[in-house]
Amino acid sequence: MTDKVKELVSKCLQARDMAYCPYSRFPVGAAILTADGAIITGCNVENASYGLTVCAERTAVQRAVAEGHRQFAAIAVTCDIKDRFVGPCGACRQVLMEFGSEWIVYLTKPDGSYKETSLSELLPLAFSPAHLGKN
Ligand code: THU
Repeated sequence: MTDKVKELVSKCLQARDMAYCPYSRFPVGAAILTADGAIITGCNVENASYGLTVCAERTAVQRAVAEGHRQFAAIAVTCDIKDRFVGPCGACRQVLMEFGSEWIVYLTKPDGSYKETSLSELLPLAFSPAHLGKN
């Protein structure tokens, strides 16, 4: 694995340790690699009004955009599940799609091993910003 992927995977594991998840006790970490090489992390942030919970991937996207990034190359995502690779939820897939279909997605296990996939593989036939204005 390249040094940058190694760093991305390691940052998503660190981000998971920051999760605020007193209700589910299911920590999730995410780390986004921007086109210019920055890494922006996120964790899930739950709420007593359960539906207001924000997933790790969306926390990372919101932070990245707020910090001026809109071009993304990859995201690494992890949770505590050790025996299989776990993908982002459907809502997060759609939010990632807002910023292009060409993301590399690293589904990462707690030991740092990962499966490389892509957003277009995870969300085929997606609705995207390109469809607006094509009616
Ligand atoms: N969660 C994420 O952070 N990302 C996902 O893609 C799936 C689910 C969080 C939301 C909630 O805090 C916990 O995992 C259990 O669903």
